[in-house]
Amino acid sequence: MPITAIVLAAGEGTRMKSRHPKVMHKLLDRPLVGWVVRAAQAAGADRVVVVVGNGADEVRSYLRGFDGVETVEQTERLGTGHACRTAIEAANITDGPVWVLAGDTPLLRPDTLRAASERITSQGEAGCALTMTPPDVSGYGRIQLDADGHVLAIIEDKDCTPQQRKELLECNSSIYAFDGAQLAAHIGEITNQNVQHEYYLTDMISILRQANQHVSIMHVDDYTELLGINNRVQLAQATKAMQRRINHDLMMSGVTMMDPDQVWVGPDVTVGNDTTLLPQTFLLGNTTVGSDCVVGPNSRLVNATVGNGCTVDETIIVDSAIDDDVNCGPRAYIRGHAHFLKGSKAGTHVEIKNSTIGEGSKVPHLSYIGDTQMGAGVNIGGGSITCNYDGKHKNHTTIGDHVFIGSDTMMVAPVTIGDGALVGASSCITKDVPADALAIERSKQTIIEDWAARHRKALEEED
Ligand code: UD1
Ligand code: CA
Repeated sequence: MPITAIVLAAGEGTRMKSRHPKVMHKLLDRPLVGWVVRAAQAAGADRVVVVVGNGADEVRSYLRGFDGVETVEQTERLGTGHACRTAIEAANITDGPVWVLAGDTPLLRPDTLRAASERITSQGEAGCALTMTPPDVSGYGRIQLDADGHVLAIIEDKDCTPQQRKELLECNSSIYAFDGAQLAAHIGEITNQNVQHEYYLTDMISILRQANQHVSIMHVDDYTELLGINNRVQLAQATKAMQRRINHDLMMSGVTMMDPDQVWVGPDVTVGNDTTLLPQTFLLGNTTVGSDCVVGPNSRLVNATVGNGCTVDETIIVDSAIDDDVNCGPRAYIRGHAHFLKGSKAGTHVEIKNSTIGEGSKVPHLSYIGDTQMGAGVNIGGGSITCNYDGKHKNHTTIGDHVFIGSDTMMVAPVTIGDGALVGASSCITKDVPADALAIERSKQTIIEDWAARHRKALEEED
């Protein structure tokens, strides 16, 4: 039977105090709703139906990038039961295991979801609610048990008697597994007869029980896994928890971190073993780092591909790749589809954009290389620049193999410097340089003997 996950993500998220819907706030670099959708898919959901409402366009356009995810709109926020019913009706969900998840619980683990679903598929239950015992239970729906310890109902905090509010410490997480046929058959029985006049999905548990169906709760010991994000303090706490989880897994897989509290690795990043991540390192987007590298301190890699044996010291790499044994930094900025081939180097205060740096080539000091194809074994002298922009167009520079560019050279693109050519320091190169030639563009040096001494003397006589 195909598994459907319903993600409730239509709420206002008032406590975020934001112009954006709550579920679009990011934990590391992925929006909250993305975490929930990915968890559902990793657990085996075939179909994910996200209920959108507040900020629907923003959520929908983000989810367009996902396969197997559809959205339905809840135009009025009448409660979680109403949101779930909207999904069932609009997406025509009639059977199979159905998981209902809140869009604001990003720390949920796929294994936990699978375990709850087992209760439906293997043990014939109609509903199972995941529960937790957080240190602060205020605001949460509470689990009411019968004399035999089976779940009787979930009572919302606001509907509890003062005694229930004090005594019932097991809380509802808003994450459930249901038998889809039973859910669809009974969802219409939820009413809004409660303090908030909302349709509570929590009522499904007592409704199914009254219909002589088996329902249960599954307690998750690590309550942080089920934490819902309602404000930015909780968002920061959840980010911290996810950082710890990701860094723990990386260290267990052979990555060294001097201080894991100062290393931030996004969910789509891979790092090879025997690589060291130093403090203030951010690895985000689709970044891959190989083995035996040292990254950091103070480095940010976004959609970067780093080979094996590389050094990335105080460097930013965005949308670019460095192959094996490349050294970068301190303080290089590599961006816009730059590609460093094996053994090449970007040194200090250099910016490399949309360029290929050939095998073993070096750009060691204070240079800008843009829109350039550079061969192997090239040395670029300090302070040299490709003048790639004429105010309107980005022009291309080609530098052949084993070229030596003297310091402070301006290469005014479009221009080609042939294999083995040498350019004298401080030249402004506006014409192509043939292979193996010397190009030099500077005025002759003049020497006037004794001039400085005479000048000093003249100044002294003025006093
Ligand atoms: C809900 C549960 C409560 C549980 C808590 C756990 C109900 C009635 N209560 O309360 O038992 O302890 O979660 O965090 O279910 N949403 C919609 N449409 C709506 C209302 C809500 O899509 O009309 C979505 C929200 O965007 C959110 C989720 O449902 O992602 C939960 O709603 P929220 O208002 O946060 O419920 P809580 O009051 O936290
Ligand atoms: Ca000059």
